Amino acid sequence: MDKNGVSNAFIEVKDLTKAYHRASLETLVLRGVNCKITEGEFAFVVGPSGSGKSTLLYLLGGLDQPTSGNISIAGEQLTEMSSSELDTLRRTKIGFIFQSFNLLRTMNCIDNVLAPFIPTGQAAAKREEAEALLARVGLGGRMHHRPSELSGGEQQRVAIARAILKKPQVILADEPTGELDTETGRRVFDILRELNQTEGTTIITVTHDERYINQDDKVLRMQDGQFLTNR
Ligand SMILES: Nc1ncnc2c1ncn2[C@@H]1O[C@H](COP(=O)(O)OP(=O)(O)OP(=O)(O)O)[C@@H](O)[C@H]1O
Ligand SMILES: [Mg+2]
Repeated sequence: MDKNGVSNAFIEVKDLTKAYHRASLETLVLRGVNCKITEGEFAFVVGPSGSGKSTLLYLLGGLDQPTSGNISIAGEQLTEMSSSELDTLRRTKIGFIFQSFNLLRTMNCIDNVLAPFIPTGQAAAKREEAEALLARVGLGGRMHHRPSELSGGEQQRVAIARAILKKPQVILADEPTGELDTETGRRVFDILRELNQTEGTTIITVTHDERYINQDDKVLRMQDGQFLTNR
């Protein structure tokens, strides 16, 4: 809180619930999630399989609607935004590194990385930087392959390069190293750390591998759809 009593959280989640309905069965996946993340924070979401980590990230990215509760990002309430306002938020402020990669099937790696810049006519200017990023994530020899010609881990690295090139305010990453070997995983976290430190990018990432967590990071432990602790 600042002196006027205004919360300085960059991302604030309040009493968030998410239920899925199938036939007459209701499954409550998020049961009242609360958290605050300040700008430039590096936050980890950890917890058992099925505890609701990916569901939360989808809601944070405005890709799905909560059943109840609120999410605000940079002072804007996601639940009050129209679908075109949400589109703009996702396009301009958020970088997604998700388990389902959302790569464009008809485009090769380099064009996938450049895709966010095509509508604004900046793709050509960004090409060299995109190539360097692909090389950094170990895909220097795969620039002209399409997603169908890549392994799962390689596709995920294309998504990582795309999210990083965009330099968004927030990166939401769902197990970005889940399919990578230790060495490549380490390199991916090094890039995310660098972005966090040099650009002040807020990072929220799910991981099963707690070796990537540093002392100053925020750790949100999820169990059965709620956070246990908050440091
Ligand atoms: N579309 C859906 N319909 C019904 N249930 C769903 C749906 N999506 C997710 N769930 C359920 O919600 C729960 C939480 O799923 P979620 O994917 O958020 O878990 P997670 O913590 O990311 O797990 P993991 O570590 O395995 O990725 C699971 O029990 C899952 O079966
Ligand atoms: Mg998940």
